[in-house]
Order: sequence, then structure tokens, then C-alpha cells
Amino acid sequence: MPKYKIALLPGDGVGPDVVAEGVKVLDTVSEIRNFIIEWRKFDFGAEHYLKTGETLTEENLKEIEKNDAIYFGAIGDPRVKPGILEQGILLKVRFYFDEYVNLRPVRLFENVPCPLKDKNPRDINFTVVRENTEDFYVGIGGRAKKGKTKGELEILRELYSVKFNLDIESDADEIAYQIGVISRKGADRIIKYAFELAKRKKLNLVSSVDKANVITDVYGFWRERFSGMAKNYPGIQTEFCYVDAINMDLIRRPERYQVIVTPNMFGDIITDLGAILQGGMGMAGSGNINPNGVSMFEPVHGSAPDIAGKGIANPMAQILAGAMMLEELGEEKGAKVVVNAVEEVLKEGRFRTRDIGGSSRTKDVGDAIAKKVYEIKQ
Ligand code: NAI
Ligand code: MG
Repeated sequence: MPKYKIALLPGDGVGPDVVAEGVKVLDTVSEIRNFIIEWRKFDFGAEHYLKTGETLTEENLKEIEKNDAIYFGAIGDPRVKPGILEQGILLKVRFYFDEYVNLRPVRLFENVPCPLKDKNPRDINFTVVRENTEDFYVGIGGRAKKGKTKGELEILRELYSVKFNLDIESDADEIAYQIGVISRKGADRIIKYAFELAKRKKLNLVSSVDKANVITDVYGFWRERFSGMAKNYPGIQTEFCYVDAINMDLIRRPERYQVIVTPNMFGDIITDLGAILQGGMGMAGSGNINPNGVSMFEPVHGSAPDIAGKGIANPMAQILAGAMMLEELGEEKGAKVVVNAVEEVLKEGRFRTRDIGGSSRTKDVGDAIAKKVYEIKQ
């Protein structure tokens, strides 16, 4: 019987509540599909930080690395300065394991409210493949006052390291600047992932997002790499979209999109739009994937302090992230069962949390989905 070791990081706020439901559903699937999940719980997050002053150490990362995947809830706490936990835990994991694919399926299920008039589940079903390690999110930049300033900026990545030595001469009273980096290998691997995904799912359109008309160097390069990669997939249609135009189009005619591949920053923006198209934060699951390494699966939402501890968070985003994890582990059938169970529970309409128009509690939605998993088996 296949056995998967999963690092479990419930985190803060609603994280532990929704993770409990995710574990419940995945354990149920493992029973009916004959595999074993061995959960290894880690208590990283706000409490741990407030107690010890530590977020995640190198040693912790090595311990996490012994697992096949990471199932993550959410982090963030009003008592901790913004950024500390995000950078110290979430971004650290993404970079350490070089999880270069941020995969975000956007699918509207039946009976889930969508803010678009006249659009239904058939119209909203696409996947955003967001680059997760480069672009303007490499985190290098600085400030300079009038006169001469030196700047030393460095990026260290699994793929490469780059150093910028800047000699700045400015007559502005003060400037701030930020450097964006896209590498050939970094672009190629994410674009290839998008095409392979389209091929695997028998989809025939891959849309590339950029702003190559203004930010010509960084996104011009992205465009060049996309065109090059597209040649290897003659059966798949391609198009270039400017980020401003695709934002409009995702509202006007979401039905035409299948796979969207995008540099990091635009992907961040587009996927929040995607989340609301599918019914909000409670419905959006995601994967931070390294196809040859340790991947992390999590809901798109944060720790939701406004509803934490009330038992009313929607566990579906977390559960759908669990389905993505099963797919990545090679348990495609199990993944389908989870998605179908969520779909059925929504269709029946008896168990829905407040964010999607119901009044059920987190635990009851999780129970209903787990029960549905059993029923689907029969
Ligand atoms: P958030 O995603 O936690 O909440 C935004 C809104 O969505 C809130 O009104 C919340 O009640 C609602 N919401 C979120 N998840 C929900 C669920 N499962 N069911 C029903 N409603 C849900 O974002 P916010 O408020 O900006 O951030 C809160 C904390 O989370 C901050 O500390 C932030 O830094 C952190 N954060 C962490 C992320 C992560 O761990 N991946 C991602 C985003 C934010
Ligand atoms: Mg975001």
C-alpha cells in the first residue's frame, strides 16, 4: 500500500480549523482508495514565534524536507508585525524548496454565488500558472537621496545567483527603486509546466500575460521565451495578453480562458480576481509546486482573524488544496473523489458556510464532504 509522509502546518487563526477538516477528508479518501497518509504535525506560526522568537530554522526545514509534501493552513496574527511570519515561514518554504509553480485553479461550482451577472459554472473554469520565485518579487531594491549613492543588491536562488553593484547619481531629493529579474531557465521551466498541464488536461489554449509594451526588457524576454516554448507544442493555441486587458476580459468573458501562464506579480493580482470569480477566499485552493521536490498545498486565504475561533470558516479551499496535493502525489482518482464530493455537497445545498450564503459550521461542512466521499465510493 502506498504511504505518503505529509508535513502538516496548521498555522494560525482559522488555519487549524480548516486543516482539521482537510485532514478528515483526506484520511477518508485514503481509506477508500487504499493508501496511507502519515501526518507529521509542526506547530510553526504566531504562538511559536511569540514564545521563541523563531519562525522557521534551517533545522526545521531539513526536518520538513523528509516528507513527500506539505499541507499548510494559514499564518498571520494581529500580535505579530506584518511580514515577519509571511517572510519567515511561507516565503522561506517556497524559496527553500524552490517551489517555482504557483498553481491556482479557478473553478466556480454550482450553487456558489458569483459576482458576475449571467455567468455560470460552465463559464468559469481555468487554471492560473504563476511563476513563484522571480520578477519584481525577488525583493531587491533600495532608496537614494540627492547626490551619489552606492547600492549592492544580491539574489541567491537555487538556479543562479546575481549581484548588482549600482552607482547611483541623482538630483531628485529622494528616489526608491526596485529591480525585477526574469531568467531564461526560470521562465522556461514555468512556461513549460503550463504547456504540459494543458497537454495533460487536453486543453488547447495557453494565454501568456505580460506588459511587454511598457516594461520591455523584463517582459519582452518573457515573451521571447514563451514564443520559443510554444513551438514545441504545435497542437496548442497561444496568445499574448497585456495584464490590464486580461483583467478586463476575465470579467467580460472568462469562458474563453483555459490555462493562463504569468510572471509572479501579475499572477498575484490576477489570482485574487480569480478567487472572487469562484466565490471568494473560502473556495480558492492552491499549490506551490516543485515537480521534482517538496511541494506545499494551501488555501489562498490567510488566517482570517475576524472570524478565527468562531468555527464558521469555509474549509472548502483547504479541502480543494488537499485534492491538488493528492493529484501531485499521483493519487489522481483520490483527487477526483474529493473534488466531486465538494461539488455534490454544494449542489445539494444543505451544508454551506456563511461566506457562500449558508449558515453551517466549519466542522459540519467537513463532515458532509467526508461522508460524501464514502457515498461516491459505493
Ligand atoms: P484573509 O484571507 O485572512 O481574510 C480576508 C477576508 O476573507 C476576511 O474577511 C476573512 O474573514 C475572509 N476569509 C478568509 N478565509 C476564509 C474562509 N476560509 N472562510 C470564510 N471567509 C474567509 O486575509 P487578511 O485579512 O488580509 O489577512 C489576515 C492575516 O493572514 C494577515 O496576517 C495576513 O498577513 C495573513 N495572510 C496569510 C496568508 C497565508 O498564510 N498564505 C495569505 C494571506 C494573508
Ligand atoms: Mg495575493
